[in-house]
Amino acid sequence: MIHEILKNRWSPYSFSSEPVDEVKLNSLFEAAGLAPSSNNEQPWLFIHVTREKADLFDTFLGFLIESNRVWAKNAYALAISFARLNSSYNGKPNNYALHDTGMAVSNLLTQATSLGIFVHQMAGYSANKVKELFKLRDDVVPVAIMAIGYRGDGKNISHELKTRDEKRRGRNPVSEYSFRNALPEKYVKS
Ligand SMILES: Cc1cc2nc3c(=O)[nH]c(=O)nc-3n(C[C@H](O)[C@H](O)[C@H](O)COP(=O)(O)O)c2cc1C
Repeated sequence: MIHEILKNRWSPYSFSSEPVDEVKLNSLFEAAGLAPSSNNEQPWLFIHVTREKADLFDTFLGFLIESNRVWAKNAYALAISFARLNSSYNGKPNNYALHDTGMAVSNLLTQATSLGIFVHQMAGYSANKVKELFKLRDDVVPVAIMAIGYRGDGKNISHELKTRDEKRRGRNPVSEYSFRNALPEKYVKS
């Protein structure tokens, strides 16, 4: 019943450094841009670097916390998603900017999975370092960093990470988060 692409997506720790064809890599960001957004604001921004540009790739790795860097360093590309928090129509806060940026990333993940490419998103990084390096305007915020590439053979990560890599993460039963007609009492003010 559920689409294979959705079932096949997961976030590996084992990445190969094998290059991803530029056309395929660019298609991830094109797919991201097809996402719907409030007022068609398209508040997302992406920047990516591939390991061919070693200096900048290292700079991106330097944004990550150590526990992410140890495996993300093997990926072919690293990307950062950003959100523009203010509306381009009236400059007022767009409360859906993060939501819509997440929608764009979801498209990116779907496109990647369709091409056999894996993406592992990370919140474990220093947003301040990213803000400083890119001299970001106050209304542009970094959202997540993504490791992008083909799956590795597990030889370039620790035994512990390899074990984690081989285990798929669980999900809550649908009955815990999706309801018909009414929300459970525990979510409602008494
Ligand atoms: C916004 C966001 C931030 C995440 N940050 C990290 C992270 O810093 N390090 C990490 O190893 N995984 C991170 N993940 C991956 C999640 O742990 C993972 O998506 C979740 O456990 C479900 O597993 P799956 O993607 O393999 O289905 C993050 C995922 C998202 C969406």
